[in-house]
Amino acid sequence: MGTLDDKRFLFVTGKGGVGKSTVCAAQALALASHGKRVLVVMCNAKERLSAMLGSQPVGADVVPVSNNVWAVNINPDQALDEFAVIVLKSRTIAKTIDSKYVRGFLRAVPGMHEWAMLGKAWWHTTEKLSSGSYKYDCVIFDAPATGHGLDMLRVPQVISEVAPPGLLRRFADDALGLFRDTKRSAVVLVTLPEEMPTQETIELAHALTNELKMPIGRVIINCVLPPLFTKEEREALGLLVMTDSTSPGEVAIESGRMRAMRERVQGESLARLSSELPVPPSYLPLLFEDACQPHAIAELAKRLY
Ligand SMILES: Nc1ncnc2c1ncn2[C@@H]1O[C@H](COP(=O)(O)OP(=O)(O)OP(=O)(O)O)[C@@H](O)[C@H]1O
Ligand SMILES: [Mg+2]
Repeated sequence: MGTLDDKRFLFVTGKGGVGKSTVCAAQALALASHGKRVLVVMCNAKERLSAMLGSQPVGADVVPVSNNVWAVNINPDQALDEFAVIVLKSRTIAKTIDSKYVRGFLRAVPGMHEWAMLGKAWWHTTEKLSSGSYKYDCVIFDAPATGHGLDMLRVPQVISEVAPPGLLRRFADDALGLFRDTKRSAVVLVTLPEEMPTQETIELAHALTNELKMPIGRVIINCVLPPLFTKEEREALGLLVMTDSTSPGEVAIESGRMRAMRERVQGESLARLSSELPVPPSYLPLLFEDACQPHAIAELAKRLY
């Protein structure tokens, strides 16, 4: 498994519900165990990181959530207001224009809330301590699901291409510079060993690589089942015809048939993801317990060291 230890920014995305936030929590613990100072940034999420790490709730201010791990749940309106203040401060016009006009203008520009959140995550990568070293070695961004995640990344690209020279464009250029730097930044794709998430992940990887020029650093296949059956057994079970009998023997056979089908789909998905993506995948097991618990996250983190 390639290391993410030297990365300053991780953009974690994938289809809805595949385990992005779970991976963010586990990856943060894995990096922290290597002595890295890590900030997990959520964008206006229904926050469950605190349950996963057994910490205090996470709001719009950065709080410590584990040893060497901090977290923040960005509020888009607040982030946009902060952004407006930064833009205003940089212009002499700020002295004469009421900030509400700038705020109103920024709110009206499509994608600006998304950019305020992503831009704020990027800004956290630039924060420094009084010693001069970076406040966080790595910022992990718990990005929105597939399409929204892509749209969010397109905003700085558009600003960089069309905005006149100025602070707005400089932020976008600087952030894109980081996001596209293979040495300092990586996308972490999270997926499941199933047909639809596999297809979506392959398409997402193409868009990220070809259109957005962002490096894919890790592909994590989450909820992988240990196979129970051999290929021959799966084929034999696949030939059985489903019955609606409720006798214990028939119910057991039907369970076996379903499991064999799931293993077959999993095998096909793993093969596709291995051959069609630019990095070899990493695997996280399906836990047969509530994965939203500190001990479960610690268990998953061990697989990401
Ligand atoms: N390896 C696993 N084994 C068992 N359950 C898991 C595993 N990974 C995640 N889960 C569970 O799956 C559910 C979805 O996980 P999570 O919230 O991390 O997904 P998400 O991709 O962040 O979702 P969303 O798109 O809604 O933000 C949660 O209940 C989580 O505890
Ligand atoms: Mg999530």
